[in-house]
Amino acid sequence: MKIRKVGVLGCGLMGSGITQVCAEAGYETVVLEVEQRFLDKGFASIEKNLSRAVEKGKITQEAKAKTWSLIKGTLNIEDLKDCDLIIEAVVEDLKVKNEMFSRLDSLCPEHTILASNTSSLTIMAMAASTKRQDRFCGLHFFNPVPVMKLVEVVRTIATSQQTIDTCFEFCKSIGKEPILAKDNSGFIVNLLLVPYLLDAIRALEQGVASIEDIDKGMVLGCNHPMGPLTLLDFVGLDTTYNIANIMFEEYREKRYAPPPLLKKMVLAGYYGRKSGRGFYDYSGEKPVPVDLGI
Ligand code: CAA
Ligand code: NAD
Repeated sequence: MKIRKVGVLGCGLMGSGITQVCAEAGYETVVLEVEQRFLDKGFASIEKNLSRAVEKGKITQEAKAKTWSLIKGTLNIEDLKDCDLIIEAVVEDLKVKNEMFSRLDSLCPEHTILASNTSSLTIMAMAASTKRQDRFCGLHFFNPVPVMKLVEVVRTIATSQQTIDTCFEFCKSIGKEPILAKDNSGFIVNLLLVPYLLDAIRALEQGVASIEDIDKGMVLGCNHPMGPLTLLDFVGLDTTYNIANIMFEEYREKRYAPPPLLKKMVLAGYYGRKSGRGFYDYSGEKPVPVDLGI
């Protein structure tokens, strides 16, 4: 099956990146948000990325203009009804996701593939809210989407081989490297990454070392591009808190349980980079570790 038009649900951290890479690859792309200000924020991030690429001589002004001509923002779900593939990237909340999937299931033609970018929910928990379980799969992108090559293509017990083949081809066409994963909570990468990130918070809680030194340890000791606490701020502490709760609920294993410090930070509105404060304060020129009273 040929994908011509792509729909994206949510224009946040992930949805804006997915919108950008689809349009850059030549797909007409419609992105849905709940309020105009969220579309504006996502579009500002796409504009920043494309302008930087022009400045660096990686793309031409014409290519940038072509990309923008393929992107349409909307607040009306009906504008997605003629999409061949719809990638959901809204908040990590099953109820919110399923409300959208069941609306789209009745709006879209039969051939439309529905996919979720969830970090931790099982795909079957969403496919079950539709009557197209064979045309439903996971397409798990990584942050920042324009830079990270990987997409986990997630197959449920009901996903058809044709859907998987179409999604593999689609991922390659937007310059990504797809891998196949089974539909277990966290797929491959988050199954391993999430306990590591939560352990870094536990290490901080237990006073093993300072925020800076925990990060420095993993950057200089293991050559990671970012330390775990910087990465948590990058992913979003609100999103991580939802992911940890979902994975803990699924596996009932302590290593997925959200540490109390994470909960307190989310309650305080410390969401990481997106809110200007998490383990680091981003209001100045350089990030500064926050005093969390530990
Ligand atoms: N959006 C778009 N592009 C970005 C970007 C962003 N937020 N941040 C950096 N870039 C681009 C830069 O423009 C630059 O591009 P060029 O090479 O074309 O010039 C390139 O990335 C490198 O950027 P920098 O030199 O400024 O910075 P860096 O070398 O430190 O790299 C990074 C930045 C790519 C983010 C790197 O620090 C990194 O790889 N960090 C780890 C990211 C990671 O682990 N992601 C996975 C998160 S988990 C997840 O996504 C799954 C989940 O479900 C939660
Ligand atoms: P985010 O908070 O940055 O963006 C979510 C966006 O969804 C917001 O802009 C919000 O306004 C919008 N939204 C909420 N309800 C909506 C609705 N009913 N219709 C349309 N838009 C709606 O979150 P994010 O980090 O982009 O995460 C989105 C999804 O991607 C989550 O499922 C998350 O687990 C997953 N994910 C996140 C990362 C990451 O590093 N942050 C990486 C991979 C996957």
